[in-house]
Amino acid sequence: MLKDVITAIDIGTSKLVGASAEVEDGKVKELIGISEVPSSGLRKGEVVDYQAFLEALSMLREEMQENKIRISPNIFIGISSRHLTYRIGYGEVRIEGGTVTPEHIDIALDNVKPSDPPKDERLITVVPRAFILDDRHRVRNPIGMTANTSLEVEAFMFYIPETLVFNFLRALNELDFKVDDKGIFPTSLASSVATLTEEEKESGTLLIDLGHGTTDVIFYFKGSPSFSFTLPVGSFNITYDIEIGLRTNEEEAERIKRTFVTLNLDEISENDAVTYQPRYGSMTRTIRLKNLVTDIVIPRIEQSIVSQI
Ligand SMILES: Nc1ncnc2c1ncn2[C@@H]1O[C@H](COP(=O)(O)OP(=O)(O)OP(=O)(O)O)[C@@H](O)[C@H]1O
Ligand SMILES: [Mg+2]
Repeated sequence: MLKDVITAIDIGTSKLVGASAEVEDGKVKELIGISEVPSSGLRKGEVVDYQAFLEALSMLREEMQENKIRISPNIFIGISSRHLTYRIGYGEVRIEGGTVTPEHIDIALDNVKPSDPPKDERLITVVPRAFILDDRHRVRNPIGMTANTSLEVEAFMFYIPETLVFNFLRALNELDFKVDDKGIFPTSLASSVATLTEEEKESGTLLIDLGHGTTDVIFYFKGSPSFSFTLPVGSFNITYDIEIGLRTNEEEAERIKRTFVTLNLDEISENDAVTYQPRYGSMTRTIRLKNLVTDIVIPRIEQSIVSQI
């Protein structure tokens, strides 16, 4: 018998990653495989060249087929964009003298609304933050508890402009990837679910996912998200600054970044040097690693990322 499969695609500015896993009773049991291809047609997480994006997605499908990775009929996608926003909303279900079931929670979550929903934006993900029984008792997990009048849920709601999501869905549809009704996730949320422990979420943790064109930020406290946003800058900007600062080309700047750059100044000794090929001329040049890091890399990270958080 064929087991149930779940497929997810992470849509990144530098790469597209597709993964499938076997699921049992709604839980992931075993990873089937992961395929990765270079991305194209995206800038800062958003589609800027539809045909190029379509080609990259098509390469991903072929790669998954070659690797014999089954693709589920409905898939999930992770996206990142500075236009992702969030609201805190509330939803309710009446329960007159009964025990709270998972179905009650689903109904309450389906009813969630913020007081000021953003215009022309699609609600993509709803994360419960807390439950309130009978207008009074705030609880983390109400299943099995008794409610005399109602169950209310407080939720963290992610939104994205319709036009933005439409381009992703159209391209995915053209390639027979059908996105589940509740299948669009901000990568900030996906990264936090994948990497943070319950204790980290409880005690307060800021997660920063430095991507190629975007930086996703999400803060957890008391077990659930408190705020989240995406900056339109990423590791690409560091490569770019090295390219301009050293007057070299993108490939050489990327090599320097990956091979030598560290933000831990204790790891760098005064004599460490980087030899590189400048954009013009055949003579190689040399720069002290410490100067590269303190004059180019750290200012960029402080200015574009740290000061924005
Ligand atoms: N060893 C390394 N050292 C420094 N930077 C690295 C290293 N490996 C990868 N990177 C950088 O990480 C970036 C890619 O990150 P990631 O794969 O998270 O981005 P993405 O998901 O494609 O993009 P985004 O989420 O921003 O749309 C590239 O800019 C790359 O240069
Ligand atoms: Mg990413």
